[in-house]
Amino acid sequence: MSFFEIQNPLKENHDFHGHVSWKCPSNIALIKYWGKRPIQMPANASISFTLDKAYTITSVHYQPRRTSDKWVQFSFEGKEEISFEKRIVKYLSSITDHIPWIKQLSFKISSENSFPHSSGIASSASSMGALALCLCDIEEDIFKISDNSLFRKKASYLSRLGSGSACRSLYPQLAAWGTSSIIKNSSDLYAVPIEGIHEVYNNFHDDILIVSDQEKAVSSSAGHALMDTNIFAEKRYDQAEIHMKTLLNSMKNGDLHAFGKIVEDEALTLHALMMCSDPSYILMEPNTLEVIKRIRTFRKSTGLPLFFTLDAGPNIHILYPNHIVPQVTSFINKDLISLSLEGRIIRDQVGQGPTKIA
Ligand code: PMV
Repeated sequence: MSFFEIQNPLKENHDFHGHVSWKCPSNIALIKYWGKRPIQMPANASISFTLDKAYTITSVHYQPRRTSDKWVQFSFEGKEEISFEKRIVKYLSSITDHIPWIKQLSFKISSENSFPHSSGIASSASSMGALALCLCDIEEDIFKISDNSLFRKKASYLSRLGSGSACRSLYPQLAAWGTSSIIKNSSDLYAVPIEGIHEVYNNFHDDILIVSDQEKAVSSSAGHALMDTNIFAEKRYDQAEIHMKTLLNSMKNGDLHAFGKIVEDEALTLHALMMCSDPSYILMEPNTLEVIKRIRTFRKSTGLPLFFTLDAGPNIHILYPNHIVPQVTSFINKDLISLSLEGRIIRDQVGQGPTKIA
């Protein structure tokens, strides 16, 4: 059962129609969510930076659904996208118990991303976040509800049912998802914002160096499922909780090197778990390893707080504080960019969370 009130179905001859539009950023996990339980609940708590420049804008036009109407029409970057449309229909069908009124409307949904496909940025996080925000906004409009904190929580809950990590994208800067003894009010059902962190993280940088734009060898749902039979699974879930404690301490007191140690360990653990799964996957490319080696050499020789993390793919997220931008920029240009695919890098940073588009 939901933690929020389920709104009644609409009257049969209702005339609700309108248009909403939301911009929702993607996120990059610092403590990784890898492994899940039904329904779409995490095996361990995770935490992520909300990004700024990597976002999805989704617009939804809604009107009373007539029998002849198609329920959902979806276009991505101006073109009809039948495969995404099917995914959205499946998603909306799966959440009708929570928002029954969606069966009584038809939707024209259009979406665009600020970043290219297969770039190491989770488009499912930003797109599911944006869609869930639009749905909650429509509900507020139709049922004349206004409760800001519940609105975010509910959007986080609904986006989680579309893509687990999406639920963390709903908050500014830093958000955690999954029950943890260390995080007050944490939940497996939705993410919560994490406040009170050191100011050095407010505008932390995340430059994403693209080494490959090939489709992922394994989808994230198949990847999560591999944890069900991974012999290290239980140890990993314990480790994530210990990491969460150390990471949050380092983020409260601004200890960048303690922060970086955990973040890199998390990235390599994620990949190690995939390598020792059955079937096994190696998702790093030779240049991924070379970039990691060079980042570590740079850190050792300069003492500067430059770190990496990885998603379930070969592209590298390069993390560093704002005060070392000049040194990092020259290092990337001199030593890393030649290892990227066609010089591709997306320069992002920690952002302020979703916004409604007027
Ligand atoms: O939300 P999903 O099912 O796409 O899984 C995300 C998994 C990772 O990106 C590897 C880790 C995370 O916590 O975001």
